[in-house]
Amino acid sequence: MPTQSPSPHLPFGENKNAAWYGKDIISVKQFSRADLEYVFGVAHEMRGMVERVGTFDLLKGKILANLFYEPSTRTSSSFTAAMERLGGSVIPINEVKYSSVSKGESLPDTIRTLECYADVIVLRHPETGSAAIAAKAARKPVINAGDGVGEHPTQALLDTFTIFEELGAGQVDGMTVTMLGDLKYGRTVHSLARLLSLFKVRLNYVSPDILKMPKEVMDEVAEKGIPQAEFSKLEDVLPESDVLYVTRVQKERFEDPADYEKVKNSFVVDTEIMKTAKKEMIVMHPLPRVTEISMDFDDDPRAAYFRQMEYGLYVRMALLAMVLGKA
Ligand code: ASP
Ligand code: CP
Repeated sequence: MPTQSPSPHLPFGENKNAAWYGKDIISVKQFSRADLEYVFGVAHEMRGMVERVGTFDLLKGKILANLFYEPSTRTSSSFTAAMERLGGSVIPINEVKYSSVSKGESLPDTIRTLECYADVIVLRHPETGSAAIAAKAARKPVINAGDGVGEHPTQALLDTFTIFEELGAGQVDGMTVTMLGDLKYGRTVHSLARLLSLFKVRLNYVSPDILKMPKEVMDEVAEKGIPQAEFSKLEDVLPESDVLYVTRVQKERFEDPADYEKVKNSFVVDTEIMKTAKKEMIVMHPLPRVTEISMDFDDDPRAAYFRQMEYGLYVRMALLAMVLGKA
């Protein structure tokens, strides 16, 4: 029996005409420059509210299902914090092995189950395309919190918000952004390169030969007329970079562990190499970090990676409010 008619049980007070009401967030390709301005404007307001009152009731009575098939510290806990700061509550499923997934339940069935209890679903899953599959099965909004090596759109949104806040929104056109590390398996850089192609940036990719940025992503970015260049040495591009975006080599994605051993320590950003970088620039990292940024750099004002996590809370508060018709 088709059950696609709008739910009669939707709570009152939502603006169903709001542009993002009821929408899924699956890919950064859904966002225009105007959308980013809107999201970041709401994120700013969220920041002001958190600083002034801490927690408030914008999403009172709303429930988020936080469904994680892969490990997470930041994405999972910042979505939880975002929902709770907005007065809502959370069904946490961080260990799918304790859920009926371990009995063989499919992703669509798990999604159909959770939407009976929740108003919005945040999903992290090891397979590329899983978020789109979940969104197809769901009548409630699904937010992609990382689908394998595919995308991590909310990370790219918070990354771009970080760049706006740290270096100035007006500075983004004309910027040089250098992405370093595992560009093949790193879903954060796949989303970020695509999202930054809305601006007149120059993108440098520095990686070991076997971890280059996928052709599919480079082709999409090239179509937007964005200059891109590949390098094997950070020294060649660090002095011109306004943003250095460092990534972890994604050990869990390698088919052959021997290949991981060969490339795991390819790059280390430390105070010594950072002497050659601009004074006014930032170093970002989606985290977790392993060895690719030396801890002795953490106290440098250009180290933006801990501040970046906090910006993520405000962006995720904005996204939840938007898809639930409250922004
Ligand atoms: N936390 C990010 C992700 O889930 C980056 C990483 O794990 O290295 O994609
Ligand atoms: N940046 C990020 O996605 O971190 P987690 O894997 O800890 O969620």
